[in-house]
Amino acid sequence: MATGFGIIGCGLISKFHAKAIADAADAELVACYDTVTEAADRLAEATGCKAYHSLEAMLADPRVEVVTIATPSGAHMEPAVAAARAGKHVVVEKPLEITLARCDAIIEACRQADVVLSTIFPSRFHESSQLLKRAVDQGRFGRLVLGDAYVKWWRTQQYYDSGAWRGTWELDGGGALMNQAIHSVDLLLWLMGPVVEIRAQTALLGHERIAVEDVAVATLRFANGALGVIEASTAVYPGYLKRIEIHGTRGSAVMEEEDIVKWDFAEEVAEDAAIRQRMEQRLSGGGGAADPAAIGHHGHARQFTDVLQAIRTGKSPLIDGPEGRRSVEVILGIYLAAERGEPVRLPLASDPVLNARTHGVGGLKKAGCVG
Ligand SMILES: NC(=O)c1ccc[n+]([C@@H]2O[C@H](COP(=O)([O-])OP(=O)(O)OC[C@H]3O[C@@H](n4cnc5c(N)ncnc54)[C@H](O)[C@@H]3O)[C@@H](O)[C@H]2O)c1
Repeated sequence: MATGFGIIGCGLISKFHAKAIADAADAELVACYDTVTEAADRLAEATGCKAYHSLEAMLADPRVEVVTIATPSGAHMEPAVAAARAGKHVVVEKPLEITLARCDAIIEACRQADVVLSTIFPSRFHESSQLLKRAVDQGRFGRLVLGDAYVKWWRTQQYYDSGAWRGTWELDGGGALMNQAIHSVDLLLWLMGPVVEIRAQTALLGHERIAVEDVAVATLRFANGALGVIEASTAVYPGYLKRIEIHGTRGSAVMEEEDIVKWDFAEEVAEDAAIRQRMEQRLSGGGGAADPAAIGHHGHARQFTDVLQAIRTGKSPLIDGPEGRRSVEVILGIYLAAERGEPVRLPLASDPVLNARTHGVGGLKKAGCVG
């Protein structure tokens, strides 16, 4: 029998969850819940699932075996912990949560309840990401020397005005980094390994009425000795496809959204030519570079399939709770390094106390601290 899914939070991304559940083998969307009853009713009407107007009632439904959490980022923890305590497997949208303490509370609740926890990062399931990861694991790059992520995106002022939570420290947990570039931060950490030192600067340059950064630059030192750069923005018109660049002493690869645009190794293997040829077809769509709704749902579908497999086999999903926490820690480290104006070493002992959390970058601007 198909595994029953319930969606918590019926906004923009929930529609992609519904499509992905429909596409994943042996999965069925059976329920949804939103604090705004009309939002739940609309999703239920569009998909044929049951709308709940109370979280407790949805979690008491035995047909719901897995929940996907699609509430604002700083409101993931409460429903995730409640779902775990109700014995449901938990799939949480990125970021897992916006502080380390809140990430840890979700991880611990799922551990105690012995349910599967997975953090959504659809990009990891793209063929190009998997090819890059395999090449890294095979040592084809030689010594890794540089790992870079560039996310030069565009979000309109209307995007930030469209939801009271968007662009706030309290519920978005940050700006271009915590909301948009986190997909690339996750990929970079997956490919390059842990970060041990960060230097950074952030700014709010292209939007009004938000408290968080819309431009960020950081330099990284990875545990393996390699260096790297993260550039993230939502203020770059018209918005470009995101890029990951991996360089080593024996090879280089560059991924643009879902396409591999450079694939050069000192020692060629038989499949390299085929990879280059296939990737020349440029499979990527807009990838959310300028429009948050211009994304596909195939990465989500593959991730839900991975979660179902983890439930059936008892093995960990590809992106479990601690994996989801890693990108949050690096991003918090970038905010801390930017605020202090000095390098920050990871791991962070605890959540950094940031002035930006109370005043925001916008607040610093008003206070004359930034231009
Ligand atoms: N993986 C991706 O590509 C991707 C893309 C977009 C958004 N997201 C993530 O998905 C999450 C939601 O983003 P969105 O753009 O869909 O936001 P949204 O504002 O469109 O939708 C959020 C919904 O959650 C509801 N809600 C708020 N608090 C709730 C609560 N406590 N319980 C139940 N429902 C609640 C709201 O009423 C709203 O309908 C965010 O964490 C975001 O980072 C991921």
